[in-house]
Amino acid sequence: MSALPRLAVLGSGKGSNFVALQEAILAGKLRAQIVLVASDMADAVILSRALGFGLPTATLPPSPFRTKLSPEGEIALVELLKENDIEWVVLAGYMRVVKEPLLKAFPQRIINIHPSLLPAFKGLKAWEQALAAGVAETGCTVHYVNQDIDAGEIIGQQRVPVLPGDTAESLHARIQVAEHELYPAALAKVLSR
Ligand code: GRF
Repeated sequence: MSALPRLAVLGSGKGSNFVALQEAILAGKLRAQIVLVASDMADAVILSRALGFGLPTATLPPSPFRTKLSPEGEIALVELLKENDIEWVVLAGYMRVVKEPLLKAFPQRIINIHPSLLPAFKGLKAWEQALAAGVAETGCTVHYVNQDIDAGEIIGQQRVPVLPGDTAESLHARIQVAEHELYPAALAKVLSR
């Protein structure tokens, strides 16, 4: 059997999607290995969750920009990924826009999950955008990452109803349940291609 694809997960927050991926791997539902979990936030919960699974972690260099790494910081990230023989970069709540050094180093090898049915509600807090728009249904999307935000080729989507009385929190929680099913399944599809 061929070697397991080597994944790095990048995240800035609580890492529930990372946990769903790692649990799918441990359950034999996703044929891959997470060899590195990296965050731009030194105190991100995703890092302690990774350590809980015994996985190596890294904190990315501080950036003067809120929405992206510095160009040098992103080059350092590429070096870190290459040193670890990473084949796929999996974004899981990573709050920095991916720029050219990373895109060029991993063409069609960076995957993201977004909490809406793209192309609807790109950008931040997509569940709040869905509530404000009054739609009856939203969802989540796994897609390739390119230079345009939340606009790369779609790999898979899962629908989620907006229910009467939903708050931003209740809707986001329902979307996250769907994310945790969709991400491992969509990634398994990509890796089997
Ligand atoms: C998810 O809702 C994901 O769609 C978005 O950021 C959130 C990350 O959540 N990109 P978590 O850190 O995986 O819990």
